Amino acid sequence: MNLVEKDLKYIWHPCSQMKDYEELPPIIIDHAKGVYLYDKNGKEYIDIVSSWWCNLLGHCNPKINEAIKVQLDKLEHVIFANFSHEPAITLCEELSKIVPQGLTKFNFSDNGSASVECALKMSFQYQYQVGNTKKTRFMCFTEGYHGETIGALSVGSMDLYGKLYKPMLMDTIHIEAPDCYRCSYGKNRDCCNVECFEHAEKTFEKYADETCAIIVEPLLQGSAGMRIYPAMYLKKLRDLCDKYNVLLIADEIATGFGRTGKMFAFDYVDVSPDIMCISKGLTGGYMPMAITITTDEIYNAFYDDYNEGKAFMHSHTYSGNPLGCSAALAVLNIFREDAVLDKAEKPAQYLTKKLNEELIDHKNVGEIRNIGLINAIELVRNKKEKLGFDSKLRIGYQIYKKALEKGLVLRPLGDVLYFNPPLIINEAEIHKAVEICTQAIYSVIGQ
Ligand SMILES: Cc1ncc(COP(=O)(O)O)c(C=O)c1O
Repeated sequence: MNLVEKDLKYIWHPCSQMKDYEELPPIIIDHAKGVYLYDKNGKEYIDIVSSWWCNLLGHCNPKINEAIKVQLDKLEHVIFANFSHEPAITLCEELSKIVPQGLTKFNFSDNGSASVECALKMSFQYQYQVGNTKKTRFMCFTEGYHGETIGALSVGSMDLYGKLYKPMLMDTIHIEAPDCYRCSYGKNRDCCNVECFEHAEKTFEKYADETCAIIVEPLLQGSAGMRIYPAMYLKKLRDLCDKYNVLLIADEIATGFGRTGKMFAFDYVDVSPDIMCISKGLTGGYMPMAITITTDEIYNAFYDDYNEGKAFMHSHTYSGNPLGCSAALAVLNIFREDAVLDKAEKPAQYLTKKLNEELIDHKNVGEIRNIGLINAIELVRNKKEKLGFDSKLRIGYQIYKKALEKGLVLRPLGDVLYFNPPLIINEAEIHKAVEICTQAIYSVIGQ
């Protein structure tokens, strides 16, 4: 049996209809370098989706590799209750210098969904412990995505992931999210007054009394199709949360670590969330690690004699894993030493320019939107009416398969193709990726 046959015999891949693998078997990756993945036959693929948005500074980055190797020979893991270690302590000290002001306490977990669970439980318990016992529900946004565990699914809104499980989920309150491409106020995201914020205002008026927290993907609803909305929305949301005493949870799992052009999406506004979840790029895409970061005020509501029963009884076996912490420290060093964010500006502009040159006039390209290095191409059946293709046609998936043949990993979100590359991508690599993407589009839906 070859590796592919053995894979299909044993492995149930994530987020996949396994029957699709009959036609498109798994690609066995042998090694990787920079933005390139190499399969067993030596074929190269540009990893334009950063391996589910987590690879930040290129595959097999020598500095991150070295940091993990050094740590590996010292301490691979230790229970994180009552024990600690230097990489975790230094990491928190370094992160505290760059996260939004007022976020001072760091609670570790091991994946994005877990950090969201942690944020939800923390806000519920906080409200309870300060006497707001009626505040038991959560608000979230339509088309939001926060992971696929039960709590995270409950505050998500994408039917693709959550619909079937509804009977298992919490009863959450959904606010209509900004949809700038199909703005029902006839406005443009670059010069509107976030008229759509009235949905949030109305929902708060009605439900804030029973709401402990609201969770938001700041500036970018990633899984919904890289839907980008104005920073002013977040500022207004902060004010509304203050007015109604609702905690604001920023899910920066996808947006954190430079993805939007700044270190965190919340850096675009001069306000801070009460709780922030980070993961993915935190370790450069090397190790499963996440952190839920919060304020002294929230932390203090849990701080008491043990018998008061106020402790946050939440843990994960791999919380604070030293290998993850050393990878994350290496990532922060690289950001500082190599001026990653500044250097990523030019390739980001080049990518947007190139995509627009090649594709904006295509009959089925509804919108090309961008923030930082993230660029998304929304394909539509009817450009004027902004009508999508029949989802059963799986146009995005057909284009994905064509692009793979040509050496580009362009895993789409429905019919939204997107580029979310490692921040170290260069112009030649971008040029090649855009060319392949364009050819793949042409070969599926014509020129
Ligand atoms: C905004 C957001 N939140 C949460 C998650 C869940 O993270 P994980 O897949 O590590 O559980 C994701 C993953 O894509 C995400 O994009």
